[in-house]
Amino acid sequence: MGYGREGLDSLKAIPLFANVDDPHLEAIAEHLIERRYPRKTTIVEEGLAGDYMYVIREGQVKVTKLSEDGREKILQFLDGGDFFGEMALLDRSPRSASVKTLQDTRVLALSRTDFIHCIEDNPAVAMAVIQELSRRLREADAQASSLSFDCVKDRAKGLFLRLARELVEEGARRATPQLTHQQIADMIGTSRETVTRVVKELKQECWLAQEGKRYLVAEAH
Ligand code: CMP
Repeated sequence: MGYGREGLDSLKAIPLFANVDDPHLEAIAEHLIERRYPRKTTIVEEGLAGDYMYVIREGQVKVTKLSEDGREKILQFLDGGDFFGEMALLDRSPRSASVKTLQDTRVLALSRTDFIHCIEDNPAVAMAVIQELSRRLREADAQASSLSFDCVKDRAKGLFLRLARELVEEGARRATPQLTHQQIADMIGTSRETVTRVVKELKQECWLAQEGKRYLVAEAH
């Protein structure tokens, strides 16, 4: 894939490649494969072997796991600049979760061999991967302790704050992706009815607002 100056600059806007120098970035760019997936496509399937990792250029995906009773539990939403599918390549275990597109999504795919070489040749990429894995582990730890120690309302608040990433209204508020009450219930370990009650309370307290299926929280939180 050919990358001019503009292409290299756009790669540097991706946190994974932000601190890589131009000659190394040009070498990496030769191995990146651009792929487009329509909305509602499964890119990575839980339990299967994995050969590629992906960096999102444009679009949005959800990371999900199947529960024992066959329900889909959302672990995370990822969008432009985020990466996924690295775990199966690093530890040669099956895919830890499924990744599905919520919108038409454009990714850069890197094969296992090229990803491992990229990490070996570029400490800056290795550091970016490690930092992101640390961040995800912190988040998982925080969620685990929230599930054990927080009341449902605090768990709901924590979830809305974690998922509200998109800035709206000139920075005044942030919006979550679209969520159903059942999805929220599965993420915070409660019933759909309890979520309906808690959401109503949070709206009455003006802590939360809703726009269609998206939830808005104040940027200052
Ligand atoms: P892999 O196990 O190869 O395939 C599924 C991917 O989902 C995984 O790599 C990670 O990239 C991603 N993933 C799994 N769990 C989380 C999480 N808690 N937060 C963000 N991404 C995750």
